[in-house]
Amino acid sequence: MTAKAYVFDAYGTLFDVHSAVSRHFDIVGENPARVSEIWRNKQLEYTWTRSGMGRYVDFWTLTTQALDFALASVPGSNADCRNTLLDAYMALDCYSEVPTVLKALKDTGAKTAILSNGSPDMLSAAVNSAGLAELLDNQFSVDEIGVFKTDPATYAMVTDEYGFQPNEIAFQSSNRWDIAGAVAFGFNCNWINRTEQPDEYHDLRPNGVIGDLRGLLET
Ligand code: LAC
Repeated sequence: MTAKAYVFDAYGTLFDVHSAVSRHFDIVGENPARVSEIWRNKQLEYTWTRSGMGRYVDFWTLTTQALDFALASVPGSNADCRNTLLDAYMALDCYSEVPTVLKALKDTGAKTAILSNGSPDMLSAAVNSAGLAELLDNQFSVDEIGVFKTDPATYAMVTDEYGFQPNEIAFQSSNRWDIAGAVAFGFNCNWINRTEQPDEYHDLRPNGVIGDLRGLLET
């Protein structure tokens, strides 16, 4: 553990994006898992298309648009659950190991932070409801610069703030596309492969691959 800062993606890495639907499984309709999957996939697609076009719209708005699409596209879905699911997205479960790992990393004297596409309000709501506020030095939101990951300017928010070299920063994400962007920027990257996905972006390999965040304490 020699990094000067440990920086984490938020959604899928610290917070379980599928916990909103899981919590309200009974009211979503005939295929809740499919709704959750399309919700997440569309949310991400919208960030990539918006950044490509140079037409930024904040992540919370994209999250609501993605849910509307998911509910409309999966037959037998209950559109009335929309606001309940959106409220739940503001208070997602964090993965069980997150508080212990963040505390251990912070105790080494390193900085700990989130770097996320999430809008500032979404991030602070999720951080507070999961009880993580004291364990994080910074919550970097790309909303400040109006472009989404994987634009290099998003990763540079961290180096600009801390004055560290990219390779002095350990960056963790469960999103392989995010790891590709962070490797391209020069961060020291750990891919959190919770669901044993096959590797991709072979020219932009992570420095480490671990099953969950506890692996950070073993290196
Ligand atoms: C984030 C999403 C993309 O937190 O997972 O940036």
